[in-house]
Amino acid sequence: MSFDDKSQSHLEKGYALGRGYAASLRLNLQHHLLRELLGYHIHPSILSDHLPDNPKIADVGAGTAQWLIDVSRLLPSAHLDGFDISKDQYPSNAWLPAQISLQELDIMKPIPSSLENQYDLVHVQLFFCVIQRDGPDNMLKQLYKMLRPGGYLQWVEYDPMSFRVVSPESSLKQTANERHVEIIRGPQGSVTKWPSHLPSHFKDAGFEQVSLDSYPLPPELYAPFMQSHLCAAEEVSFTAMENDGPQAPGPGFRKLLAEVYKECQTGVTMTESPVVVCGRKPTS
Ligand SMILES: C[S@@+](CC[C@H](N)C(=O)[O-])C[C@H]1O[C@@H](n2cnc3c(N)ncnc32)[C@H](O)[C@@H]1O
Repeated sequence: MSFDDKSQSHLEKGYALGRGYAASLRLNLQHHLLRELLGYHIHPSILSDHLPDNPKIADVGAGTAQWLIDVSRLLPSAHLDGFDISKDQYPSNAWLPAQISLQELDIMKPIPSSLENQYDLVHVQLFFCVIQRDGPDNMLKQLYKMLRPGGYLQWVEYDPMSFRVVSPESSLKQTANERHVEIIRGPQGSVTKWPSHLPSHFKDAGFEQVSLDSYPLPPELYAPFMQSHLCAAEEVSFTAMENDGPQAPGPGFRKLLAEVYKECQTGVTMTESPVVVCGRKPTS
């Protein structure tokens, strides 16, 4: 989700999405929908050849820690560390597998030296709502430092430049969906172009063997992906937009979302192709 210039200033104060139970459920749904789409947690090219027997793995911006919980089942001997700027959505330690440990960390700031050269794999998922204008370069520097030489970074991301409106019949109204896509992309699409260029950002940060895989949604996943985007957009309207009075941007945006959903009930919807970018820190 992206914001006009006025709303952008709210983002600087913190996270644009919610952290309550509905937001956590939405995040869990997004995680599981991505797994259904991708068919894996760790890219096959990394898993098949390149992880040691007892790998040390980090998830940065771990959110509700669902990815780590799933990976704990796949790799019971892995050491799994989750990092997030907020622990509000972390599950209780009491119910987590012992191999998972969750900590607070701001990945936009230089990481402590104790985290340098530690990980065989670092995973990042869904940061396009977090890094808007600034792009991923600053964060990539820190992620690179966390990896051991030869370690891998895997970044799973929505690509707003792939968002497009589709309709079962050309006569159906789709203006609200089109406006919604424009708002997500930001003015002239400038704010959220970076996911499309993530491989170049990886190379600039020093990664080698950089790959990009793009996953167009099959039609049966259009509806749940769309519903999760609408839930996220509604959170943004409360968290990152002015809400004083009916003319404020927040209520106005929610009115648009209601129109979008009305169009969706006729079969009009947004589709997209999330991306997975992987890269390796050179061994020397
Ligand atoms: C959209 S959520 C994605 C969560 C998780 N990766 C997933 O896919 O389910 C983005 C996460 O990034 C975290 N985050 C935002 N800014 C951060 C920062 N500066 N350092 C670390 N985590 C951050 C948020 O708290 C949130 O949990």
